[in-house]
Amino acid sequence: MTESRIATELYIDGKWAPAESGATFTVINPATEQPVAEVADGSVADAERAIRAAAAVQRDWARTAPRERSEILRRAYELILDRTDELAAIMTAEMGKPLAEARGEVAYGAEFFRWFSEEAVRIGGDHTTTGDGKNRIIVTREPVGPCVLVTPWNFPLAMGTRKIGPAIAAGCTMVFKPAEQTPLTALALAGILEEAGLPAGVLNVVPTSNPGAVVRHWLEGGIARKLSFTGSTDVGKLLLTQAATTVMRTSMELGGNAPFLVCADADIDRAVEGAMIAKLRNMGETCTAANRFFVHRSVAEEFATKLADRMTSLTVGDGAADGTDIGPLIDRAGLEKVARLVADARDRGARVVTGGTAVEGAGYFYPPTVLTDVGPDAELMSTEIFGPVAAITVFDDEEDAVQAANDTEWGLVGYVYTQDVDRAFSLSEQLEVGMVGLNAGLVSNPAAPFGGVKQSGLGREGGRIGIDEFLEYKYLAIPRS
Ligand code: SIN
Repeated sequence: MTESRIATELYIDGKWAPAESGATFTVINPATEQPVAEVADGSVADAERAIRAAAAVQRDWARTAPRERSEILRRAYELILDRTDELAAIMTAEMGKPLAEARGEVAYGAEFFRWFSEEAVRIGGDHTTTGDGKNRIIVTREPVGPCVLVTPWNFPLAMGTRKIGPAIAAGCTMVFKPAEQTPLTALALAGILEEAGLPAGVLNVVPTSNPGAVVRHWLEGGIARKLSFTGSTDVGKLLLTQAATTVMRTSMELGGNAPFLVCADADIDRAVEGAMIAKLRNMGETCTAANRFFVHRSVAEEFATKLADRMTSLTVGDGAADGTDIGPLIDRAGLEKVARLVADARDRGARVVTGGTAVEGAGYFYPPTVLTDVGPDAELMSTEIFGPVAAITVFDDEEDAVQAANDTEWGLVGYVYTQDVDRAFSLSEQLEVGMVGLNAGLVSNPAAPFGGVKQSGLGREGGRIGIDEFLEYKYLAIPRS
């Protein structure tokens, strides 16, 4: 891929331009540690221009016909699919996921635009009468106003479309700061929306190597009305304090520590299949990744052996190469964290069934790893691993398994494998999470409300309620004569 084919400038008020300071930062390919592109490095001054551009067109954009907003999203959906290979190549280069997975993300990400193109024309209200019969109540929905969108590097396209889609559908304008590791996909997406007819100023993209200052400026500046953030719980907590200064609406998709329960009556082959997805999708770099496996003693040996066999058969390498199943982790810090967590678990008595040692040489590669006999005190039991490491703990009593599964500050998703319908519902109800994969290793879908409880976040993205996060209620009191 040559730099000339990819957008690298800021996108503000419908114009592509360098940062005001002229500064750039380098995007690195995590498979090769080589530069992919130099990208304009937005500053607070650029951020200010971006939010002002968004605010300037908010009123007109809110008045745009819903069908028009819908059709822009629909055209963008089709353009994304037409450019699947191009977008997948950009994602693989800047983030590392294998091309097949990157193509999968293109389809997943595009679907948010199709979904919200359909929701744009279905924004309804309510009409009722007060209890005493004296007043009419008419409830309308209005766009919340200019939004701040902050996305992570693990799904560079889908986390953008999951926020931009409902914002456009609802009639909100926005400023968008993609992760500094993966700005190229976000800029390519802006180009597609421009081509689809999105008016100037509705979407403004500011990549930056100084995200703290840029986002803070937006949150505390008093112009933006809404923050939609996906990222770590620690950063999310900081942004919540900044958003509080202007009492801003927030949607927060934060970390996870997903339990994966395999009951004595589970179909083990199916559980292994689900574990492969729940653990290895995106090299384990997802907030929905199964972090802790709780497996009934009677099936633990079979599950661990079959999972290790499947994992051992995978090819680790550059995501751009044919036949690669597992790409690199995002950066050296990510790799070192995974290696440290595995070493800690081993020191505390865990057994390595497969993997367990970082791949030497260029790139941030860690092989799929299965650990058994992982104790509750191992650090990875209370830390998002964000890598391809399955940590297995055995249980005898289901109540103990549920208690251990819930023994975390997070509550994004849980996975349950059982063939008994009563047990399936009972365990799903007992897990303190926002989503449950019941004999399923993947819960993410644009038609479903994605989100968690406890410190995994606030609000939901996708599904019928996803657009609500970008709308305010207004109620009109009208006396009846
Ligand atoms: C995330 O890891 O942040 C999102 C995962 C998904 O959409 O499946």
